Amino acid sequence: MRKPMIAGNWKMHKTPAEALEFVNELKETIGRFEQVSRVVIPPYVALAGISPALRGSGIKVGAQDVHHAESGAYTGSVSAPMLKGMVDYVIIGHSETREYLGVTDELVNKKTKISLANGLKPIVAIGEKLDQNEAGRTEEVCRTQLETALQNITPEQMENIVIAYEPVWAIGTGKTATPEQAQSIIGGVIRPLIINLYGHDIAGDTIILYGGSMKPDNCAALMRQADIDGGLIGGASLKVDDFTSLVRIAAETKHLA
Ligand code: PGA
Repeated sequence: MRKPMIAGNWKMHKTPAEALEFVNELKETIGRFEQVSRVVIPPYVALAGISPALRGSGIKVGAQDVHHAESGAYTGSVSAPMLKGMVDYVIIGHSETREYLGVTDELVNKKTKISLANGLKPIVAIGEKLDQNEAGRTEEVCRTQLETALQNITPEQMENIVIAYEPVWAIGTGKTATPEQAQSIIGGVIRPLIINLYGHDIAGDTIILYGGSMKPDNCAALMRQADIDGGLIGGASLKVDDFTSLVRIAAETKHLA
């Protein structure tokens, strides 16, 4: 039985003070939903403040990216050893980092490995762009991204990895993939690929999220799909009410409420 997950990626929103105020409210509204893995992923500068505030609350913390090296002359970057102890999860390969920060499939693999080596759980994000989707290349793109991300990852390490399928055309656009579209990639391509690489037991336990304009009004239909275990959520995770509704809906649709 996979535990559903709602992870809120705040991107470049909220100051440290705003982030702290937000999580203090969130503790009240979602603290009791232990059936759902709840993760907040604020900008780096908010991590030091909210991580102690959330200790013992059951709400986990994540970082939005990590550098692929342990340390070095990389101005502006943050390494896995720096995040160790402060976060549980780290998003790797978000399409915005692929687009604006030059993150390639090979770097996704390196970032995944260094995160695991430092005890962080990667949320590996993959997904096709609009032109790739329209050209019928969705399956091929997702396959290549995932296979490269998982190169030389052991079965033991795979147990600590979360996958997020985020069609780029659905991110921040208000255009959500239909539940059937999302299920066909997550259940028809991604999980079978993990079965091929790691076998049924590990693949059956792997948490796979959908991301791309997931909101309270479309969350239930997406989460009712057999292979969709939760959401990586941008816009709708910035409001306490919406975040709370998403967690409640995740519990209800998986019959855990
Ligand atoms: P969105 O972002 O929910 O605002 O579309 C999702 C994401 O980028 O993870």
